[in-house]
Amino acid sequence: MTGDLGAESVAYSELAGRIRVLIADGRIPVGTRLPSERELAMHTGRSRTTIVAAYQELRVNGYLVSRQGSGSRATLPHLADVSKRPGPALNFAGAVPPPVEGLRQLITEVTSDLPDITAFPGFDLLGNDALRDAIADRYTHRGLPTSPEQVLVTTGGQHAIALTAHTLIHRSDIALVESPTYPHAYEAFQRAGARMVATPVTVDGWDVPHLVATIQQTRPAVAYLIPDFQNPTSASMNPGDRARVVHAARSAGTTLVIDEATVDLNIDRPWDDGPFARHAALSAGPNGSGVITIGSLSKSIWSGLRIGWIRADAAVIRRLVQARPAGDLGTPPIEQLVGEQVIRRMDELVAGRRRMLREHRTVLSASLRHHLPQWRTPWPDGGMSLWVQLNQPASSALASIVRARGMALVPGPKFSIDGSLERFLRLPMTSPADELDSGVRLLAHAWAQLGASGPVVANNRIPASGI
Ligand SMILES: Cc1ncc(COP(=O)(O)O)c(C=O)c1O
Repeated sequence: MTGDLGAESVAYSELAGRIRVLIADGRIPVGTRLPSERELAMHTGRSRTTIVAAYQELRVNGYLVSRQGSGSRATLPHLADVSKRPGPALNFAGAVPPPVEGLRQLITEVTSDLPDITAFPGFDLLGNDALRDAIADRYTHRGLPTSPEQVLVTTGGQHAIALTAHTLIHRSDIALVESPTYPHAYEAFQRAGARMVATPVTVDGWDVPHLVATIQQTRPAVAYLIPDFQNPTSASMNPGDRARVVHAARSAGTTLVIDEATVDLNIDRPWDDGPFARHAALSAGPNGSGVITIGSLSKSIWSGLRIGWIRADAAVIRRLVQARPAGDLGTPPIEQLVGEQVIRRMDELVAGRRRMLREHRTVLSASLRHHLPQWRTPWPDGGMSLWVQLNQPASSALASIVRARGMALVPGPKFSIDGSLERFLRLPMTSPADELDSGVRLLAHAWAQLGASGPVVANNRIPASGI
């Protein structure tokens, strides 16, 4: 996982940097015991002194704790002390858009004229009626008739994914995910005990014959897909392919978990097919539609508004409600009041978001094409990131180098379940426009430095069972 380490003289800081990235992006989970210095020296072919120095650097920077007798374990600096460490100067790690214009005013309006919220149930497992009505109305308006009984309000989209995974997955069931995909989703399925299989997605879309064949052959319990402006590729699945996927899933008894957290991030896609579950509703059988849809206000409105939801057949919603108390006892009422107003004014609010993404797509891709013409820069018609193809498989090495210079970046392998995709990098279009250009300049500089130290190829000298 650490790749080629280059010259012996720089190997210790290089090694420390690469391990730091692996810990920071979760590929080495916090608490994992790292190999002993002797073992790692053997695996990497480096001297023990080099490994001792790398571990020492990680300890000093708060990424490793070592205890006599129990070895060295991965940790994160903020777990030691949140307040003292400044964040990265250029944060390209998350695709976290700023709040939409008009949100602050809407929050002020809602909260200055609050109804008596203490009259609401304290523990609200289903979500408040007015918000569920608003969500149902929006689906109906978008072409998928929906009643409030088919809607469960959650505390953000991630909660919706985790609740769905824990409710649907039995240990050793198969979960099919895209590769690349949104990492916290596959982590939720893994945690629920699923065995993972993957189907490829590129900036040009899905390999639908592969997806359909994988569903037929492995008969997964669930298939988790992001068909609109997929995270991280920003690709959209065309309507004909949606119908084919629904058909294959129904024949295999697979529940489709469709994540529409990014559905409103349309910059200039010339078509809108409405909610994905429309294709299943048209042909729903006695067991219902077989589709669970996840929604969220994070990407379209603001990630601080922790409102998500699940739309499913009413019987599935009842199962989810029964399972919910094991993880959480309800979504806070004030957020739900704001959420209702946001959803009622959704079209007006997301117009500003689309303008921002359009502008940032131009700035980021122009900068990439100018400074890094050897990379393949896509031009998506929506979404929140560019899934850039590098001309060398060195995404993790690049993330490690720029991190030392104050830029946070998530390398391609974090978006795959098997640590592949070293040739890719997700660059969010959500940072401020001037930071996009500074970030690309820094990347170009670091890339030139990597290239100068010889061809960069990931190697497999360290086995997956190590680090
Ligand atoms: C595809 C996708 N689904 C769900 C989420 C989580 O959304 P929330 O912030 O509402 O928990 C994200 C956040 O990045 C996402 O990209």
